[in-house]
Amino acid sequence: MARKKIALIGAGNIGGTLAHLAAIKELGDIVLFDVVEGVPQGKALDLAQSGPVEGFDARLKGTNDYADIAGADVIIVTAGVPRKPGMSRDDLLGINLKVMKAVGEGIAANAPDAFVICITNPLDAMVWALREFSGLPHNKVVGMAGVLDSARFRHFLAEEFDVSVQDVTAFVLGGHGDTMVPVVEYSTVAGIPIPDLVKMGWSTQEKIDAIVQRTRSGGGEIVALLKTGSAYYAPATSAIEMAEAYLKDKKRVLPCAAYLDGKYGVDGLYVGVPVVIGAGGVERIVEIALNDQAKVNFQVSVDAVKELLVACKGIDSSLG
Ligand code: APR
Repeated sequence: MARKKIALIGAGNIGGTLAHLAAIKELGDIVLFDVVEGVPQGKALDLAQSGPVEGFDARLKGTNDYADIAGADVIIVTAGVPRKPGMSRDDLLGINLKVMKAVGEGIAANAPDAFVICITNPLDAMVWALREFSGLPHNKVVGMAGVLDSARFRHFLAEEFDVSVQDVTAFVLGGHGDTMVPVVEYSTVAGIPIPDLVKMGWSTQEKIDAIVQRTRSGGGEIVALLKTGSAYYAPATSAIEMAEAYLKDKKRVLPCAAYLDGKYGVDGLYVGVPVVIGAGGVERIVEIALNDQAKVNFQVSVDAVKELLVACKGIDSSLG
């Protein structure tokens, strides 16, 4: 059987880390695409030279030509610019919207059968725009946010409880970052819900609230430390988990920015919800009953996403 093909659009910090992880895990052959000449080629060559030491077999190619993504099984999109000082959210939105248009058209023309994972921010709006520009089926275009947000939550919870991260599960909904909605009743240590752990004296409500807040601003905390960029190891790992679920038909239940057409009372938007990812792409949206507080928080998230889409439509009339 021929190897799978993974195309990475954007060969920056996350793109390079994605290529490294995909190679080490032998997910398939890898194409790194970027508009900057030399960077994808250089990273591909550097990574290929780590193959003999690591013992992976994967062809790595760097390119500035969309034709090279032809036949990709999975495409992960990190193309775009991060926010810089003095730049408004609308400025960023305008720039990355143009990038999504170019990427969407490149995918439509060269790899329309791929499963596409978007990472570019502002995520919930960019994944929607990428789907619109590419014209791919909604179940084949998904945004990476919830796996990362829940990984951050799990890391902090594991530290608080002094248990293995492997035994902590977290359930998050809603938009990426600030408006994320952690559902603590469904977050557990080895199946024991957090509210029960608080009752057992393992932690306090105040500490859990502080962890929720730290998780919500988890991306900002890293930006403030790095100063010259944003997080890339955990975002890349999170997207690779989603890619692996698709390539291996694992039917993983993962929180992702998925297209809702009625579920959770939302129509026509991408919002973070638990989904089943398998060979069919997003095979199912998992719809759970939310308590009143989670409902209110989820609505705040949905409204924030709606606002961004209005801004997108104002910038590019073809999205009307
Ligand atoms: N097509 C392809 N690549 C592009 C385009 C384009 N039109 N425009 C910019 N790029 C490339 C840049 O040249 C750069 O190599 O996208 C890459 C982005 O890499 P970084 O700036 O290192 O950003 P990174 O940390 O990888 O994050 C990428 O993911 O988490 C989000 O907010 C983050 O939107 C950002 C994205």
